[in-house]
Amino acid sequence: MPEPLNVGSLGPSAFARLMAGVTEKQQQGIGPGPIDDQPTPDEPGHPEYHRRRRAEWALKRWETATPPRYRRADATHPDIQAWADDVATNPDTAGSLLLTGTTGTGKTYQAYGALRRIAAAGPRVYEIRATTAADMYGLLRPKGSERGTEEELKRLVRVPLLVLDDLGSAKASEWTEEVTYRLINERYNACRPTLYTSNLPARAEGAPDLTSALGERIVSRLSEDTRVVAMTGTDRRRRGAA
Ligand SMILES: Nc1ncnc2c1ncn2[C@@H]1O[C@H](COP(=O)(O)OP(=O)(O)OP(=O)(O)O)[C@@H](O)[C@H]1O
Ligand SMILES: [Mg+2]
Repeated sequence: MPEPLNVGSLGPSAFARLMAGVTEKQQQGIGPGPIDDQPTPDEPGHPEYHRRRRAEWALKRWETATPPRYRRADATHPDIQAWADDVATNPDTAGSLLLTGTTGTGKTYQAYGALRRIAAAGPRVYEIRATTAADMYGLLRPKGSERGTEEELKRLVRVPLLVLDDLGSAKASEWTEEVTYRLINERYNACRPTLYTSNLPARAEGAPDLTSALGERIVSRLSEDTRVVAMTGTDRRRRGAA
């Protein structure tokens, strides 16, 4: 039988402490404190611990998907950084990004930099694909099997984050316009973010622009949810030679 608790010998304040579960030593700060079972950021169970693990994994994926030339890429432009941060936290509402500018101004560099920044944020989903528009047309061009083309197009539509580099540079045809339209329209409908780069300006009066290269239907969709960043400066590839 358990011994009855003898409180008769305790003073009133000691009794109150006992009832509150606090010993005298604890109150003086020399006894063992309450058991702290909250994980620290370095321990599993803490959100920061899991974010860091996701970031490590995503950065490895980024490195595998990135050509060696761009493995040091860093998104330095504030608007590109802001877009990347939005994609990392809320990809459904981030919208897309279009980087325009003449050759060598650093569009592809910033694009891979943005992908790296998203990875480093440790997003919940990090599935990326990066392709040039010309490579994409090469991949999708029917090679005897219509089904193969449809499957590839679906993969590009479904990938959570796509970089489509050099949009509007490949020789346009009815077929390229149709494929580009379907890709952009379906990703736009699904609210999946895409990062486009192009040597052409979004719109230019009386000069070649994305509207003349891609058609009004595509540019209309881009204009609704796509932020445009115009890269300026000289051709970085020639700077060393100058
Ligand atoms: N901020 C930067 N810091 C260091 N190197 C850079 C930076 N931006 C671009 N570069 C380098 O400059 C070169 C040209 O950049 P990039 O390939 O991104 O240009 P681009 O605008 O995509 O050109 P193009 O229109 O011809 O495709 C690359 O070697 C790239 O690594
Ligand atoms: Mg480029």
